[in-house]
Amino acid sequence: MDVLVVDHPLAQTRLTAMRRTETESGVFRASLHELTTMVVYEAARLFAVEKYPIETPVAATEGTRLANPPLIVPVLRAGLGMADAALGLLPESSMGFVGLARDEETHEPRAYMESLPADLSGQPVLVLDPMLATGGSLLHCCKLLADRGCTDIIICCVLAAPEGIERLSRSDLPLRLITASIDEGLNEKAYIVPGLGDAGDRQFGGM
Ligand code: URA
Repeated sequence: MDVLVVDHPLAQTRLTAMRRTETESGVFRASLHELTTMVVYEAARLFAVEKYPIETPVAATEGTRLANPPLIVPVLRAGLGMADAALGLLPESSMGFVGLARDEETHEPRAYMESLPADLSGQPVLVLDPMLATGGSLLHCCKLLADRGCTDIIICCVLAAPEGIERLSRSDLPLRLITASIDEGLNEKAYIVPGLGDAGDRQFGGM
């Protein structure tokens, strides 16, 4: 699996704000929004473009547009905080949703919602999930997409653990990953270390 780390200084300052315990949820959400813009901006280098004729006030020339805008799929709940930034950069795109909850005993995903087009053949998909930890949730989500015929899946996250990258790499799914950091690893509760805690709770409060 191709992995790109967005190490731009402005991405790293947003990530630092998200990591800090004292960052309150409003600033955390704003930082996630801005960081998502940077991660999706880098991901968009992977998209095919096409030329088409346009006119400026001065002359006829060629413009550029995305040849095949991706379907954006935030993984709920934590991916919700990335959705608006991604759609802002990709206004031509439409959005699907996958709702996954983590079983705290097994750390494996449990699906509670799938809102996706039936046929995704020929359609690139941009999956949004801030945390690639064990890889269980993202693998589950990407299998749902592949089952619908998707052959081009780009995952945008904020933090990735080596264990999760390894798990996704071992799958035979057509995946590429863009992240703002590859952290040290997972602790015994499958949290990313040093990480930023629970990305859903940090955005929306604990339940
Ligand atoms: N999900 C989170 O929100 N945080 C982690 O550290 C791991 C998974």
